Amino acid sequence: MTSSDATPLAGLGADPRVAVIIGSTRPTRVCPGIARWVAGAVQEDSPLRYELVDLAEVNLPFLDEPRKAASGQYEHEHTKAWSRLVSSYAGFMLVFPQYNWGYPGVLKNALDFLYHEWADKPAGCVTYGARGGSKSAAQMRGVLQGLHMRVLDEHLEVVIAATDVDEDGQILDLEALMHPYLAEAKAIDAALVEAIKDSQ
Ligand SMILES: Cc1cc2nc3c(=O)[nH]c(=O)nc-3n(C[C@H](O)[C@H](O)[C@H](O)COP(=O)(O)O)c2cc1C
Repeated sequence: MTSSDATPLAGLGADPRVAVIIGSTRPTRVCPGIARWVAGAVQEDSPLRYELVDLAEVNLPFLDEPRKAASGQYEHEHTKAWSRLVSSYAGFMLVFPQYNWGYPGVLKNALDFLYHEWADKPAGCVTYGARGGSKSAAQMRGVLQGLHMRVLDEHLEVVIAATDVDEDGQILDLEALMHPYLAEAKAIDAALVEAIKDSQ
């Protein structure tokens, strides 16, 4: 995705990149579709460059670093690569489902691998579930605050009703499901723009 059609805003450096993190990795997950929709919707008018980061592709093991992340001393190449990738982004949009009233362990694991790389960077949450995933969002806010991220007030909770999915849990009409959330998605983008401007 590019921001070539967007109008640069005063005070915003060239092309700041935002990672839209796909925060579930099940083989039959719906997360990539939702993340792609949100990234596409906000990209249209944004001076930011949104890029999808799929935790299934990042493919981290369970945290296996001998030293705590705050030391910044990493032993494994997968951690160093993840550190480089996360460091390269000015902000984050985390897209994840509610699992048993919490967030997916794979996302927490990916966060726990690093520390300084997340600090002071803005983060917006997009959650989904039968009631929008508000419990997972609330727990994640605490985690992100623990990482000293700038957690945006603006967020999005996608309610996925039983009638929105087929018998395999796949979303029947992604556009129809997501379109009502367009304004909220754009509000996250606007908040990210402001937060990134402030930090430059
Ligand atoms: C382990 C697990 C726990 C779940 N717990 C909840 C829950 O607490 N609340 C809810 O609304 N939906 C829950 N669901 C339903 C998910 O919202 C739904 O399966 C969604 O598609 C999961 O996202 P994913 O497909 O990207 O993994 C759960 C699903 C799984 C697999």
